[in-house]
Amino acid sequence: MKYTRNLILVVVLVLSTACSGQKASTVGSTADIEKRIDKLLSGMTLSEKIGQMNQVSAGGDVANYAEALRNGQIGSILNEVDPVKINEFQRICVEESRLGIPLLVGRDVIHGFHTIFPIPLGLAATFDPSLIEVGARIAAIEATAQGVRWTFSPMLDIARDPRWGRMAEGSGEDPLLDAAMAEAMVRGYQGSMELDRTSMAACVKHFVGYGAAEGGRDYNSTFLTEKQLRNVYLPPFEAAVKAGALTLMTSFNDNDGVPSTGNSFILKDVLRKEWGFDGLVVTDWNSMGEMIAHGYGIDRKDVACKAVNAGVDMDMMTFGFLSHLEELVASGCVKESAIDEAVRHILRVKILLGLFEHPYVDVEAATPVQYAKEHLDAARSTVEESVILLQNDGVLPLEAESIRTILVTGPMADAPHDQLGTWSFDGDKNHTVTPLKALQARFPGKVIYVPGLRFSRERRDRFDDVVAAARRSDVVLAFVGEEAILSGEAHCLADLNLIGSQSDLLAALKSTGKPVITTVMAGRPLTIERDLPNCSAMLYAFHPGTMGGPALADILFGDVNPSGKTPVTFLRTVGQAPLYYAHNMTGRPYAGEKMLSEIDLEAGQTSLGNTSYYLDYGAYPLFPFGFGLSYTTFRYSDIAVDKTVYPKDGEISISFTLANTGERDGTEVVQVYIRDLVGSVTRPVKELMAFKREFLKTGESRRITYRIPVSDLAFYGMDGEKKVEPGDFQLWVAGDSATGEPVPFEVK
Ligand code: BGC
Repeated sequence: MKYTRNLILVVVLVLSTACSGQKASTVGSTADIEKRIDKLLSGMTLSEKIGQMNQVSAGGDVANYAEALRNGQIGSILNEVDPVKINEFQRICVEESRLGIPLLVGRDVIHGFHTIFPIPLGLAATFDPSLIEVGARIAAIEATAQGVRWTFSPMLDIARDPRWGRMAEGSGEDPLLDAAMAEAMVRGYQGSMELDRTSMAACVKHFVGYGAAEGGRDYNSTFLTEKQLRNVYLPPFEAAVKAGALTLMTSFNDNDGVPSTGNSFILKDVLRKEWGFDGLVVTDWNSMGEMIAHGYGIDRKDVACKAVNAGVDMDMMTFGFLSHLEELVASGCVKESAIDEAVRHILRVKILLGLFEHPYVDVEAATPVQYAKEHLDAARSTVEESVILLQNDGVLPLEAESIRTILVTGPMADAPHDQLGTWSFDGDKNHTVTPLKALQARFPGKVIYVPGLRFSRERRDRFDDVVAAARRSDVVLAFVGEEAILSGEAHCLADLNLIGSQSDLLAALKSTGKPVITTVMAGRPLTIERDLPNCSAMLYAFHPGTMGGPALADILFGDVNPSGKTPVTFLRTVGQAPLYYAHNMTGRPYAGEKMLSEIDLEAGQTSLGNTSYYLDYGAYPLFPFGFGLSYTTFRYSDIAVDKTVYPKDGEISISFTLANTGERDGTEVVQVYIRDLVGSVTRPVKELMAFKREFLKTGESRRITYRIPVSDLAFYGMDGEKKVEPGDFQLWVAGDSATGEPVPFEVK
């Protein structure tokens, strides 16, 4: 490997201190902070309190906001990244408003600020939280250098339907992986929080269930039971709150009839009372106003009342608090104590970020940190860990010496904007290194570039130019996928095959007989089954960001051995959605019954075995969760647990031998799954319990031990309590969610 994690960590730690331009010192004890809040609150008018609860999107001249800022009517601004303007906003608040309360400046810094890292789904494919923490720290260093102290990230919505465009923004289908990524991002963004000006508040979103939108159609309703919420959708949020996330955003969806922005069960009972969250709750963009469209409120006054009483502290862009809270307090619909509580949450975040001490940003220092070499290197090594090798007939890695001519083709080969993916507002495509640029730089004179298609949606009947170029080449490197605009918010798809004529392009290339190595850059797992036979090898890179090109060249030519694993199930066809590995055990599990082509004419109604599958596509996905090949091979053996029976407060010690049985050094993402055979309610067929990246040199064999507390097997069962239910379990240690042999144990 070219870059090691430890090296990056050192670099980033150095950077975070250097760029803050000051030594970190503490913001004060909890008691001091609460005293400061009390003092501030006692001097505030009701109107000033309500002003803190109002968030506005910036745009245009500072003058447009000056009066509102001066009058204390804005507590936070989003979407301004010009440090000069941000300083001016702050100056008006701090020097011209009556109380001098600084502004909280927010932005969607989702997978990097200027230096763009892989989309979050790609980040999750690394299964490497410590590397993800480094990336989040870098994003914070770059964003705070321009005055952004609050990011609307991480998105923790479990997503099990790839039609949903926002799957790109999260960590995929699994609660444990999602929770691990959540904690890492919170730590990375927020940094030391000790008056460190590079600390950026995290905002965990969207609370909650948003990823389960019916039909994978954005903003659609969800119907999650409390058990599903508690066992699957809430745990990543709880982990992020425990990791210290300062803020949280409500979601657009209504769950079982209640829009999240008006849901006091999730915002008060679960978040505040059960988890003890004392940070700030902001609505999503106009999600308070949209409760009117949901049919959950009559007008803005009504929904403002419902939202604040449900536990919302800040209104993003509905202006319902600003316009109506005073009269709602006067009429008794909202208690002033509820307003005080909301403002307390907001002020606490401002104090913890050190905004009162350091409201301004050093404009001169902003430029040097953007796209710093260390940031680009970290982005590159993140792509190198994130790319998933899905298929390889042995053609990869390529040997540069034996290749004279390389054909680079496909609409994503040189797509500097699209390679950045969704939510990369501040990434400048002029800094993107595409695969074409990286390969041309690496092999001057050897690369022929014939795009075939200029963009992913383009349609074309013939590919004579590409085919002719392929015939003149030793190898074809095809880069296909989705433009950035095809995934992300509101960008859902009902057809997940490669769009436009991309599959035809791959088929035409295959007809030349040359090895076709395909890299897919996309915002979701596309249904690429029909394309696999046309490819000698396939890499899946999601949208890899600024440094995608060099990282992919490293992988294609063997400087880096791929180690990414699928963070979501890859479907054979969209009709299988939702299909995820941790589904509950059904009464009639699939057992290899007949497929369409095998069914006799006029077969009897009961001739098919009556199990859970599709006659045309069976029961299995194209690639299971956790899957990914390597240039080497790994063998698991002698998997054993240290006891046959464990007490509920015990610890399971799992030992196994992992051997690198191939020709190259490599990293395997080891995964531990369990199945709880009988429960008070039906349980998933498998659940990820632990994962770890293990590096082994070629020929190396190692005995490895992991420990899992039995309490990790707890779940919310019939009585609604979280606990471990005694009984029989099975455990797997494997390189993906579909292989391995179960090891039994019991909990008493
Ligand atoms: C999105 C949020 C985002 C917010 C602010 C909304 O449309 O759903 O995820 O943070 O806009 O940009």
